[in-house]
Amino acid sequence: MLSARQKHCLKGIGIRRWVERSATPEISETEQQVETDDPLVNLHPPSAPPVETCSEPVAEPELKPPVIDLPLDSWEAIQHSIHQCQSCELGRNCIQKVPGIGNQQADLLIIGEGPGQDEDIKGEPFVGRSGQLLDKMLAAIGIARSQAFITNIVKCRPPNNRDPHVDEVQTCNQFLQAQIKHINPEIILSVGRISAHSLLHCNDPVGHLIKEMHQLPGTEIPVKVTYHPAYLLRTPSAKAIAWQDMKTLHQILNK
Ligand code: URA
Repeated sequence: MLSARQKHCLKGIGIRRWVERSATPEISETEQQVETDDPLVNLHPPSAPPVETCSEPVAEPELKPPVIDLPLDSWEAIQHSIHQCQSCELGRNCIQKVPGIGNQQADLLIIGEGPGQDEDIKGEPFVGRSGQLLDKMLAAIGIARSQAFITNIVKCRPPNNRDPHVDEVQTCNQFLQAQIKHINPEIILSVGRISAHSLLHCNDPVGHLIKEMHQLPGTEIPVKVTYHPAYLLRTPSAKAIAWQDMKTLHQILNK
């Protein structure tokens, strides 16, 4: 049963009805229609979610990214080095770097795609409309923004919000891996297509990836994929699935 607080949070997110995961059609982030009459009480998230590998793994690119010759051996060094980095076009053209925000010892690490305009101006991830929805989704499972660590695949805004290029993702990955190693989270919430594909080295549609738990390659860290809040703002019917993702997340963080 939902608590009054959860009901309040769900209303804030814009969810009025619930849908069972099994009712989810084959979907991608760009083409999805999900809304049923199933009540929220029908939800049965798995107690020990299975770990899934991608069905469409992507080969590691042969080109190695330039090694960032900046120190990454402490939290302060990582943050400072991100601010110093000029290794790709993104770093040379953004207003400011957006390394991430929150608790460097967080159990929950949230990884989005890359800063947008609002984030570029403020120097903080997820501060625009998407960020406000993300905050509400976290609040619905009792997590304040400051309790998690929130960052992105790339730390600088891609011009005109284009997708980051493979070489930019690869270059910035050195920072992300250093952050992950330092934080050593209980779980990663991978937000959206670019994040999921970059972290899991695959090209499966997000609508497929959200159905199972994954593991960060080379580690034992579980990865939960969910829809990007920008997509949820465009496709409110998908919020019910995102809410189920949040419940799974809550369950894993509280086991
Ligand atoms: N979208 C993202 O993926 N990250 C942000 O920081 C903001 C919007």
